[in-house]
Parts: sequence; structure tokens; C-alpha cells
Amino acid sequence: MELTLGAMFKLCILQWLPIWGFLAASISAANMMRCPGPGWQLWKGSCYVLTDKTSTWQEGKSACRSMGGRMAAPRSSEENDFFVSLAGPGGKVWIACKFNTAVAGGQLACEGVEAEFTKWHNGEPNNDSEECVLLKAISSGTWFDYSCQNPYPSVCKKRAAKPSRDLVCYEVGENGRLVGTA
Ligand SMILES: *[C@@H]1O[C@H](CO)[C@@H](O)[C@H](O)[C@H]1NC(C)=O
Repeated sequence: MELTLGAMFKLCILQWLPIWGFLAASISAANMMRCPGPGWQLWKGSCYVLTDKTSTWQEGKSACRSMGGRMAAPRSSEENDFFVSLAGPGGKVWIACKFNTAVAGGQLACEGVEAEFTKWHNGEPNNDSEECVLLKAISSGTWFDYSCQNPYPSVCKKRAAKPSRDLVCYEVGENGRLVGTA
């Protein structure tokens, strides 16, 4: 293979072909799941972000949708811990859990379905007129019932983008440097 120094060219390889070490490293990096858009953080195959403005619970839900996601609720202790890190020290965030007052006793729905995982603070929920759920990082990520009208940021979630499976392309530039392309 003859290279013209300084010229850029494109190298595309099928990722399943046996290839040599340094390219393998680049390819595995190119194959990682990605979160499109600024601010979204990858965690276990999903992308998460806080709404940039505080709002009522309902407005937070709409804001998540307008960013191509959904308002999210933790489904496990591990995911709850991730929400704590997302909220930051002292952070208080709306999660997608709300009491359905049409049901006697008020059934808790998270992400629209009856809640399986919950992490109530001691003594919570404690007020029938507070229908929405706030997660407080400062209280170890425990949950509190709050009036839905209060302004807080909301946690949004969407699927991570999967990279193209078969062809990975690189621009080969000056000095033989590889630059990944879409
Ligand atoms: C219950 O919640 C409402 C709305 O947040 C509040 O105005 C009221 O004071 C609360 N009641 C008690 C007993 O905390």
C-alpha cells in the first residue's frame, strides 16, 4: 500500500475481520453506546439528564418528552444511587412517581405503572394532598411526597444510541493519525 503523505483518505473495515491490535482498540471505542445531545449521561445502556430549569412535576414530564426522553423513576437501589449522583450534592429532583388519587388510598404509579421499587424516607409518604415524589440526594436518595406544584428539576431518561454494527470508518490523516468518522 502506497501512502501520499499529507493526504487524507478514508479507511473502512468490517469489524468482524481479524485485525491488528491498535485498530482493535479504536474499534471497541467506536462501538461503545453513546448518548446523543449535550449533558446526557450514560448508565447501563440508558441516557439520563436533568431538566435545565426547575418546574412543576407535570411541566418536568413535558420537558423530558420535548428532549426525546421520558421522566424517569429508579427501578432498583443501584439506579436510585445513580439518580443521587445525577442530582448532585444537596440535589432534590422530581422522579416519575405520582399517586393516583382516583384509586382509594391513592396508588403509587412510577413511569405509569404500579410501583415495584420504592425508597421512602422514614415516615413518608405522610400527606394525602402531596401527590408527587421528590428524591433528595441529601437524605441518601430517599423519597418524599411533595406538592406537584413545587419547582424542581426532573430526571429524564432515553435509550442510548447503538453504533453501526458492521462498518467502522476512519480518516487517516497526516502523521498516520486515525480520526473516527460517523
Ligand atoms: C399537606 O400538604 C399540603 C400541600 O403541600 C400543605 O399545604 C399542608 O400543610 C400539608 N399538611 C401537613 C399536615 O403537613
